[in-house]
Amino acid sequence: MTGNDNQKTDGVTPKVGNPQSVEEAFRTEKLGVAFDELIGANIAFRKALVTAQRAAKSDISVLIIGESGTGKEILARAIHQTSGRRDQPLVDVNCAAIPDSLIESELFGYEKGAFTGARTEGRKGYFDEAHEGTILLDEIGDSSLSVQAKLLRVLESGIFKRVGGTKNIKVNVRIISSTNQDLAGLIELKKFRDDLFFRLNAFTIQLPPLRERREDIGLLIDYFLKRNGGGEKYKYRFLPDVLKVLYAYHWPGNVRELKGVVSYAVNMTQSPVIDPGSLPNFLFVGKSYQDRLAVPAVEAVQTSRNLTEAVKALERKLIGEVLATAPNKSEAIKILGISRRTFYLKLKEYGLG
Ligand SMILES: Nc1ncnc2c1ncn2[C@@H]1O[C@H](COP(=O)(O)OP(=O)(O)OP(=O)(O)O)[C@@H](O)[C@H]1O
Ligand SMILES: [Mg+2]
Repeated sequence: MTGNDNQKTDGVTPKVGNPQSVEEAFRTEKLGVAFDELIGANIAFRKALVTAQRAAKSDISVLIIGESGTGKEILARAIHQTSGRRDQPLVDVNCAAIPDSLIESELFGYEKGAFTGARTEGRKGYFDEAHEGTILLDEIGDSSLSVQAKLLRVLESGIFKRVGGTKNIKVNVRIISSTNQDLAGLIELKKFRDDLFFRLNAFTIQLPPLRERREDIGLLIDYFLKRNGGGEKYKYRFLPDVLKVLYAYHWPGNVRELKGVVSYAVNMTQSPVIDPGSLPNFLFVGKSYQDRLAVPAVEAVQTSRNLTEAVKALERKLIGEVLATAPNKSEAIKILGISRRTFYLKLKEYGLG
């Protein structure tokens, strides 16, 4: 952590009580290279990144909440890379996967000869490995109550003993945890300890699902097409009909699912111009492809309650549809009733070009 970093952040801290400038700061605050792999311009998403970058600079515990495939793990990595601990390890612990019988030896390690089957030289646990660095408690909402109890103890004291050891070991770790579960709901059901929750959520970052940031679908498609095509070597692009299908889909698997679809299509297609025949079948289940195309823009866009976002999502959908049906761009401009310049700016903004 450096004083300079703090000054930079302070420089853009918006005036309290002015929601417009708060939003503007989230839109424009420069993000470090560690965030380069997190693509998206949606305001809720940008807010998550900016908040993460600000939190990264201290040792504060961060809890990342988001559905599966929304980017929790890459965000956790970006936080670690931005922090003063970037040259130290980031240890990823899948809390749901630790069997109760091995909790202590996995988390805290064991001394030689601690139990039958133990390696003779002993082994370090996750907390030892993460010393001076960051520990990512992944899928914390799926951890058993026994894992939660052990975690709470070490988080409160920073001290643990290895299995079979007598010495207190003190570690200095930064905690990032992530979950796709509703922790408050789990607390009510007595499946998650509230005392652990309060330790973990000093800073909470919410990653929005893809269906609530549809305006980012185009940006993500472009990004994955470039990555799949090996940069400049192949210039893949989707036909407008393909884009229509992709914008209409509800993306339960979020960005991971979109990434998979783009990679599938790139592998299926025989031409750099990709048509709907190269998309996986599940995108068409329920509604026929023609039905899907016939859905009017207003109905098809599931937008957030935020007016600016809702208008943008509709705008993008409408322009995409007109582009797909108009014989050429000049006609599309006439139908939309906007200037040529606005039209091209919007194509760029929405990744429709
Ligand atoms: N905003 C984004 N920009 C680019 N790629 C992204 C973005 N969000 C997610 N991805 C990609 O999607 C995939 C899933 O991301 P990640 O593993 O971080 O999700 P997750 O929220 O941890 O999911 P899970 O809850 O299933 O573990 C990764 O390949 C990641 O690179
Ligand atoms: Mg994950």
